Amino acid sequence: MCVGATGAHRYPGNEGVYQCVHPNQGGTTSHASSLTVAWLFVFCSCHMEVTVTIIDQLAHIEQTALTALSEIRDAETLSEWKSTYLGKQGSIAKLSRELGTLSAEERPAAGQRFNAVRTALDSALAERESHIRTHALQDAFNNEAVDVTLPGRTPVMGRLHPSTRVLRMITDIFAEMGFQVWESPEVETDTLNFELLNIPADHPARDMWDTFYIETPPGAEKVLLRTHTSPGQIHSMRAHAPHPVRVILPGKCYRYEQVTTRHEMMFHQVEGIAVGTNITFSDLKGTLVGFAERLYGAGTKTRFRPSYFPFTEPSVELDVECFLCKGNGCRVCKQSGWLEISGAGMVHPDVLRNGGYDPAIHSGFAFGMGPERITMLRHGIDDIRWFFSGDERFLEQFV
Ligand code: PHE
Repeated sequence: MCVGATGAHRYPGNEGVYQCVHPNQGGTTSHASSLTVAWLFVFCSCHMEVTVTIIDQLAHIEQTALTALSEIRDAETLSEWKSTYLGKQGSIAKLSRELGTLSAEERPAAGQRFNAVRTALDSALAERESHIRTHALQDAFNNEAVDVTLPGRTPVMGRLHPSTRVLRMITDIFAEMGFQVWESPEVETDTLNFELLNIPADHPARDMWDTFYIETPPGAEKVLLRTHTSPGQIHSMRAHAPHPVRVILPGKCYRYEQVTTRHEMMFHQVEGIAVGTNITFSDLKGTLVGFAERLYGAGTKTRFRPSYFPFTEPSVELDVECFLCKGNGCRVCKQSGWLEISGAGMVHPDVLRNGGYDPAIHSGFAFGMGPERITMLRHGIDDIRWFFSGDERFLEQFV
């Protein structure tokens, strides 16, 4: 028995006839091929013969191709199908290269069969193409049908940080009162953050306002992260002097703090300053009372307590009646009935001069408040560290 093409010999002038040399008998057996020429493998035996012919292969390819084609529903798969079966490297083209192995008599008939299959597949392809085109819309209707009775999916909405919300509320209120919103740098010089605000190097207030310093060459001016928005007073006065100025300056501040429930190393402030002629303490009171009433509601009780800041004289602290207990005393107001919301005062004559104004002609008031503190009081938040810990469980409560 001989297995495979190795046992088959082809003789010139005897095309189409394979001879198997039987290893045991040493004799030869001829098999007339009559278009049953073996293509890839010839399994021949002296008793039994199984041949896979080019024509069988072709018929098989045709059948597989037609079945595959009937399942195609889109143009992309259709073009893949075309190259798989009818392309230059497609199965039919590959198989047709084997035509040369046929005898001269067999070749024409086989060639015709190839052409017939090609034509059949070509026209099946064209038919499928037009079918897909005409049914594309219908298929889209069927496949992409929307079940309008299904409940909708709620998109996850982003939201503003609670500090940003309160900052915007504050700036809106002051904008209504004619204040412009200004920006001032977070990185400042020692001169602007301290010296020009009456806080010289040996001033005890420096302890309270200690901060982070940026490394600078020896002898160069000290550069730091601002401890309050008050250097913005100098920036805005210098930009306006000798004309009147009325601005608020919201932004971040930094302190070298032991971080606790009440102290963060980074927080926001909103500074306000108004300088002009005939500005008095009554203007300061009227502005801040008006602000408190807009923030906490008309009729909100307020009080001013004397205080001290090196850059204002006189200085005050603004308290509003606790809106939770209405002045009766509770956990949020620490039983005092009052909540402290802002430091303020009349701009110190030295500071006015540093800003470019003449204190004999000009006067002004300034105030500073912390939006985180105001938010904590509004919502009864007992730990400032929630604000910048990035914990979504906290943040998503502020819709
Ligand atoms: N800068 C002060 C602070 O950080 C607040 C303040 C601003 C006080 C303006 C008076 C005037 O505490």
